[in-house]
Amino acid sequence: MCDWPSHGGRPEQVLHRFGLTAGSEVLDFSANLNPLGPPPWLAERLMACLSELSVYPDPDYTAAREAIARTEGLAPGQIRLTNGGAEAIFLAAALLAKRGACRAVVVQPTFCEYERACRHYGIAVQHLGLEGESFELDGSRALDAMREADAVFLCRPNNPTGTLIAFDLIERMLAVGQRHGTTLVVDEAFIDFVTPDERLTPLLARYANLLLLRSMTKLYAIPGLRLGYVMGDGSAVEQIARLQLPWSVNSVAAGLVEPLLEDQGYLQRAQSWLDGERPWLQGELETLGLRVVPSRTNFLLLQDDGARPMSALLEHLARCGVLARHTYNFTGLEGAWLRVAVRTRQENTQLLEAITHWRTS
Ligand SMILES: Cc1ncc(COP(=O)(O)O)c(C=O)c1O
Repeated sequence: MCDWPSHGGRPEQVLHRFGLTAGSEVLDFSANLNPLGPPPWLAERLMACLSELSVYPDPDYTAAREAIARTEGLAPGQIRLTNGGAEAIFLAAALLAKRGACRAVVVQPTFCEYERACRHYGIAVQHLGLEGESFELDGSRALDAMREADAVFLCRPNNPTGTLIAFDLIERMLAVGQRHGTTLVVDEAFIDFVTPDERLTPLLARYANLLLLRSMTKLYAIPGLRLGYVMGDGSAVEQIARLQLPWSVNSVAAGLVEPLLEDQGYLQRAQSWLDGERPWLQGELETLGLRVVPSRTNFLLLQDDGARPMSALLEHLARCGVLARHTYNFTGLEGAWLRVAVRTRQENTQLLEAITHWRTS
């Protein structure tokens, strides 16, 4: 069992291993959050929402679900608001278990919570590994998994590789799954950073065996608020609603869903930041001699072909005040890679300077 922290975003949990303390000056590249920060109006709106603390939230979060339904082009009955993407993952596993699922396949390396959620609900897990230098999913093995398992979990774009499984393969997997009673659970926590035409939402109209999981944490840089949702076939979502703890999302967070989704200017600023910054950072890292997996989202998985292990680069960066994400708990990576978030130009430059120092020392 890996004794490194399971998730990024808490620098002190890693820095203490190197005898360092986490000051405010640590640049955290270990959590994949939009570096533009939450929309500027959010703090004021939060204060205004405080009056809602004295009443119970609507148990069905109708206004939030209607807002999501308008954005996604779905019926409100196809959406369930959740306490972050994390609760969406556990609800998906709970639904599968309720429906009698015994065996799930998780496409690896990926976010650790799918496996944890399955095991929590007594579902046995097998791994299907992404292959080659660009971490591709083999189509025939993916289709076999849809024939043989009760459910397949995958992340799109995938954490930590940043890669995006082709729409066409997903559709073929769904068609096979439809014939064999297999559910495909796709975590789209980072889909907001990808062009809208790559989304799987239109497939919900044709495939009742598809569950899509979303997080509002990443794009809006609000991990502390805990907002996410599940989208699926109406009857699956109804069952999920029955499995969910009552009032799982607080009223302040729920009240922010509609204004967040309406802030198109924020979305455009985030997309134009990423369009400029990711290719630039990737190019600079490659110029420094690092291997970088081509990413479709807001983080990069990298490796140094040199003789020194990536654990040494992780420590070097930490000593320079830059925290990267270790990969010890990603099946198939086992610490041999590092993941870094794409941040602002100034912060990315600091990362590059620290890596330059490493390459030349
Ligand atoms: C792929 C993926 N899904 C879901 C989550 C959980 O997101 P949330 O903060 O919305 O629970 C994370 C968090 O790191 C993640 O990386």
